[in-house]
Amino acid sequence: MRILITGSSGQIGTNLALALQAQGHHVFGVDKRRNGWTDEIETLYQDLSMPYRDFQQGIGHVEYPMGFDAVVHLAAHAKVHELVVDPARALENITMTFNVLEFCRHHKLPIMFSSSREVYGDIHRYITEESHADFAFTESPYSASKISGEALVYSYAQCYGLPYLVFRFSNVYGRYDNDLDRMERVIPLFIRKISQGRPITIYGEDKVLDFTYVDDCVAGVMAGLEGLVSGKIRNHTINLAYGQGNSLVDMTRFIAEELGVTPDVTIEPSRVGEVTHYVANIGKAHSLLGYKPQTTLREGIRQSVAWGTDWWVNHPPKGY
Ligand SMILES: NC(=O)c1ccc[n+]([C@@H]2O[C@H](COP(=O)([O-])OP(=O)(O)OC[C@H]3O[C@@H](n4cnc5c(N)ncnc54)[C@H](O)[C@@H]3O)[C@@H](O)[C@H]2O)c1
Repeated sequence: MRILITGSSGQIGTNLALALQAQGHHVFGVDKRRNGWTDEIETLYQDLSMPYRDFQQGIGHVEYPMGFDAVVHLAAHAKVHELVVDPARALENITMTFNVLEFCRHHKLPIMFSSSREVYGDIHRYITEESHADFAFTESPYSASKISGEALVYSYAQCYGLPYLVFRFSNVYGRYDNDLDRMERVIPLFIRKISQGRPITIYGEDKVLDFTYVDDCVAGVMAGLEGLVSGKIRNHTINLAYGQGNSLVDMTRFIAEELGVTPDVTIEPSRVGEVTHYVANIGKAHSLLGYKPQTTLREGIRQSVAWGTDWWVNHPPKGY
């Protein structure tokens, strides 16, 4: 397959691109930043959030190579709390999705859109079936940007026959996720701080989330891509997660156990806009894609601590 990946310098983009390349597929990345982990992904640097109107060869006046089989659209401002602080970034997310959809429409390319469990809002009803998302529960500008992105994708399917898959991810972690000076993600942040004996703050003592080890996420996306490109699976919205909940308190305990230390923990209430309970129903991913996540949080933390420790030994961070 020849796959165009937007957001290819980010966590999921890096893992997906390298996994596709390892299987012999051709990947072309687009991002506004260089990749801080690898030079193995051919990348074109472009800000996709500009209001472009020209989609002849690429997006705007930037020329892309042609002959792709599908576009994986991952580029976004992906941090919930940052979009609460700066909601204009939510609008940029929507503009990016619009631009990428126009590119797909122009070149008749199927799209895989990266949505989020955030579209469900804060669920105390414990229903996460894909057809039951109730958008009245929108928690944050980020969540609104993903709902809008999905709505645009569905409208392009309806009006222009554009084939799509929408994946709703949930707390992906494990590798190429530790660029903490750009983006604080809870698991690499806690690994870093706890390993240095620094205090950490858990926002939400009772918060339960569905943490997804990145290899499981990538396996699901790759199965989806094969189906989308072959035409066997299209126009579906699919939860991609591990399918079990874990509290942040347990996750922290796993990290500390793995590091063999006692962490210095402060507990604060959840922050505005954050989801406090999510456990995905992954039945659809299983039945459509044969998706069977392999990595429990305990095992994923073991692998994350090993990867992060090794990375930081060889690449000492400046700010953290
Ligand atoms: N990682 C998760 O746990 C998770 C969960 C739910 C949804 N998602 C979604 O999956 C996608 C990928 O997530 P990720 O964790 O890899 O995020 P990430 O922040 O690591 O990667 C996103 C990439 O998009 C790029 N980008 C941002 N604005 C851009 C612009 N204007 N033009 C070009 N590139 C731009 C960034 O530079 C970054 O490299 C995102 O859309 C995110 O919202 C991720």
